[in-house]
Amino acid sequence: MVGVKDSQWVALREDDGRAYLLQNKPGEIKVKGLGRFDAMQLLDGYSIGERITVGQKSLTIVQAALPEARRNMFRRAQTIGIKDSGFLLSWMGIGVGSRVLEGGHGSAGLAMHIANVLGNTGTLISVEIRDEHAQVGKLNMDRLEEILPEFPDWHLLVGNLVDVEEKVKQICGEIDAAIIDMAEPWTVVNSIIPTLRIGGRIACYCPTTSQLEKSWNACENAGLEIEWAGEIIERKWSKASKGGVRPGNQPMGHTAFLMIAAKIASEEEE
Ligand SMILES: C[S@@+](CC[C@H](N)C(=O)[O-])C[C@H]1O[C@@H](n2cnc3c(N)ncnc32)[C@H](O)[C@@H]1O
Repeated sequence: MVGVKDSQWVALREDDGRAYLLQNKPGEIKVKGLGRFDAMQLLDGYSIGERITVGQKSLTIVQAALPEARRNMFRRAQTIGIKDSGFLLSWMGIGVGSRVLEGGHGSAGLAMHIANVLGNTGTLISVEIRDEHAQVGKLNMDRLEEILPEFPDWHLLVGNLVDVEEKVKQICGEIDAAIIDMAEPWTVVNSIIPTLRIGGRIACYCPTTSQLEKSWNACENAGLEIEWAGEIIERKWSKASKGGVRPGNQPMGHTAFLMIAAKIASEEEE
């Protein structure tokens, strides 16, 4: 068993998966659902992996990571969830050392997933037009930086995605991937393409079919190759009361249509 280090973030996990995040440092804190206490006094003498009782609750102390940070996010704008983030990151090849542009940053739902895989050598540029949204996203990202063992070179730009070309070039030259999650993705595609390396990819996250169609046309007209468009459908299963496992009763909810397009080289001169 490993003791809880000073300033370490841990999660107190209920058996059903709910988790409460807290940092091992002195001073009274209030944790929604658990109450007020001094985290350092509470965790004194405990190790990661042990059970702890807080009020009426019996919890397991676990190392905090992305899933716990996500469950405890501060929220304002609608976030991109696990299902769609996972697909986008894998399809686009985003990983250690990648240079990624994302916007609107909103509450950082997607940005947290990206930061989780970039390592210390990656670069993430987040763009958000509304300062009040950017501040909520920053709270989530600052906390995630303290939780993850490695964190990318992260830049938060408060402004419009159409205006960031020069700034992106200054920060990292060119990017490997861009993910656009805002109401009108097609309006910013042309400003992002000059920052994208050949072979790099742009994804548009489109809640409605009309957004998908306009984004698709904008990417095609700009000379990008559409690699994938569609939706990721998730169906959860559960244990039936009389035995067996089966699809649960919850509906298959819609999140968004995703479109991924790649930048290809222009035709060879004759
Ligand atoms: C649905 S939210 C983004 C959620 C975020 N991707 C997440 O996963 O948490 C859309 C955001 O785009 C921002 N936005 C809209 N137009 C923008 C633009 N032209 N440039 C930058 N941000 C923009 C909005 O202010 C809003 O916060």
